[in-house]
Amino acid sequence: MAFKTFLALTTVIATISGVNAAITKRVACPGGKHTATNAACCKWFDIRDDIQENIFENQCGEDVHESLRLTFHDAIGFSPKHGGGGADGSIITFDEIETPFPANNGIDDIIDVQVPFIQKHNVTPGDFIYFAGAVGVSNCAGAPRLNFFAGRPVAKAPSPEGLVPEPFDGVTKILARMGDAGFSPEEVVALLASHTIAAADHVDETIPGTPFDSTPSVFDSQFFIETQLRGTLFTGTGPHPGQVESSLKGVIRLQSDSDLARDSRTSCFWQSFAANQNTMKNAFKSSFLKMTLLGQNQRRLVDCSEVIPVPKPNNAPAHLPAGASKNDIEQACATAAFPTFPTDPGHATAVPAVPPQ
Ligand code: HEM
Repeated sequence: MAFKTFLALTTVIATISGVNAAITKRVACPGGKHTATNAACCKWFDIRDDIQENIFENQCGEDVHESLRLTFHDAIGFSPKHGGGGADGSIITFDEIETPFPANNGIDDIIDVQVPFIQKHNVTPGDFIYFAGAVGVSNCAGAPRLNFFAGRPVAKAPSPEGLVPEPFDGVTKILARMGDAGFSPEEVVALLASHTIAAADHVDETIPGTPFDSTPSVFDSQFFIETQLRGTLFTGTGPHPGQVESSLKGVIRLQSDSDLARDSRTSCFWQSFAANQNTMKNAFKSSFLKMTLLGQNQRRLVDCSEVIPVPKPNNAPAHLPAGASKNDIEQACATAAFPTFPTDPGHATAVPAVPPQ
């Protein structure tokens, strides 16, 4: 009965261009507010509005950062050699097994936030994790509009331990692990654009919320620029495992990010993202989509990307932080010079921590 009513609401919009008639069928969603290319996408509009208001508070804050980290820690649990279902939500379905893995330190915070919403909306953890990641990132100015595919079944098994990279892993180990999951060195660097909207709570527990760059609520290329500056200081009580000196007070630098910025296998990609926000944005979008489909059969999923909000642009030009100059850049790419950026005026100031939500 409900289904018949639903069908009665179905509308067909024909888009005719030139001689070829391209017909796009759109479905009117219950409630009359939205239309969708597939009825399976309708419920995600309400979920979107709920989590924007009640998890993310319409900001690019801590819960967005943590939701994005969660997508990686779930998806990278995928290995043709060692097992793991990839982007299947196993980190939530089997949270008692996966959250105690050392590399997942702190990930239980965002799982605790997300689970009531998963239950309330009766969706699978796998779908919810990637939906929340994509919706959350849309609150960060300059971000790409990420894709979302719906229809992941509930995970059948937990991921084995040891598949999530650690910040003290060397470049060879990280590239091998990521390569095992299907990512090229360039895609690894592209995925690390996520660290432009990120902070650490557990690398140095005395300074929770310490960001990886000076603009943790903007999806810009500052992360790629600032990690190339010579490290001179520890914010907090470092060094801690996986941490190296950063160049800015209030910022923390991971050893893995520092090494990837300087290694000949990845440094030119790193520099190309520093030089061009658009390149970085597009590369992140496609690598992120690939990550969200690990272990899934894309043909069984429905493309509901239209539900993801369009992020605001970031109009601030790339720059060196106040007090820094081109001499502070540690040139690593052997085939092209690091680009020139204007330096922010004034004296160097400490970057504030990301406030807890
Ligand atoms: C080489 C691989 C990577 C390593 C070693 C790594 C390591 C880390 C570490 C140590 C933290 C700090 C956690 C804490 O102390 O709270 C962190 C945070 C974060 N990571 Fe990564 N990461 C990697 C790749 C990725 C990828 C591929 C993504 C997403 C696509 C990602 C997204 C994030 C985000 C958004 C945060 C910030 C979380 C927050 O602010 O609460 N990371 N990462």
